Amino acid sequence: MVESDKSVTLIPIFNDQAYYTKAFNYWRLIGNYIEAVHKWTDETFYVHVVEKLVANIGDGSDGKPLRVLGVGSGRGEIELVFLNKLLLKFPKIHTCVVEPCANLLTEYQHNIKEKATNFTFDWQNRTFEEFVKLQQESSLKYHFISACNSMYYVKNLQEALQSLYDMLAPGGILLITITADYTGSGKLWRTSPYFGSETSSQDGSPNSTLLPSHHRDSAHVHDVLRQLHIPYHIDNTTCYRKITRCFDAKESEEGNLALDFLTHTIGFRNAPKDLFQQVLACVKECSVQRGGDWFFQSEHICFFITKPT
Ligand SMILES: C[S@@+](CC[C@H](N)C(=O)[O-])C[C@H]1O[C@@H](n2cnc3c(N)ncnc32)[C@H](O)[C@@H]1O
Repeated sequence: MVESDKSVTLIPIFNDQAYYTKAFNYWRLIGNYIEAVHKWTDETFYVHVVEKLVANIGDGSDGKPLRVLGVGSGRGEIELVFLNKLLLKFPKIHTCVVEPCANLLTEYQHNIKEKATNFTFDWQNRTFEEFVKLQQESSLKYHFISACNSMYYVKNLQEALQSLYDMLAPGGILLITITADYTGSGKLWRTSPYFGSETSSQDGSPNSTLLPSHHRDSAHVHDVLRQLHIPYHIDNTTCYRKITRCFDAKESEEGNLALDFLTHTIGFRNAPKDLFQQVLACVKECSVQRGGDWFFQSEHICFFITKPT
């Protein structure tokens, strides 16, 4: 919970999965994130994942499927872009999908129905933490793991990153994407004292690895990877979201949804006036104006981690 003042407690958005799905789906619709990911996948992902995997483990001509793990896959939109790119070099792909939100998992299954002849799927409707517990006895490793915008939500970032790394096969690649700390949501959460690291720490300690989900950003991932001595390199993608309606969120249902996803709380329009105004000012500062509309600028940092062969 985020204590905004003594009388108001803002509820984290992930406490209500149905509402989270609604807000997330709206957030997707108002931005060009998917287009940006397509372009990024054609260029950067192809070189740093597809070609590198071929160099590390061969091209799948032995008939064995490439083993892929998706963590917090959502409705699969991003993962399917990656899988289709991998298919150019790996004719068979087995993907394990870990997604706790049943609605989003169903949307993912619906999205692949027609086009899945080269893929097999293992659907895991659970959190990553639950999946890790189940995997403890298993020696199964993955060639490619993606955790796109899901590390916000794991309870303990250090344990999650260590587990992801341990699940990589030799030569395998882990891709983590998360909002940058210096733009977009990362900047918003760091700018407002109500969303800042210290005030939102679950157990009151300033230990960043124990922060509750909604306030993590790329700086936390950097720190933990360094602590774990896991080498990585980074890249980034930028996208814009039309958030003009946020400025009349008190009247507009769409503005309310966008603002709730941005702040990762439920019903932010009912926050105390000072906090509400402060956050809207910061949203404006993180946005650019084009024509009569405001576009929130989001930069995501992509961490590439390779397991030595
Ligand atoms: C912002 S969405 C990203 C979805 C998708 N990867 C994308 O990039 O479009 C975050 C996803 O993480 C999932 N998630 C939340 N808590 C999680 C956890 N503890 N373990 C794994 N996934 C989680 C959510 O259900 C949601 O689908």
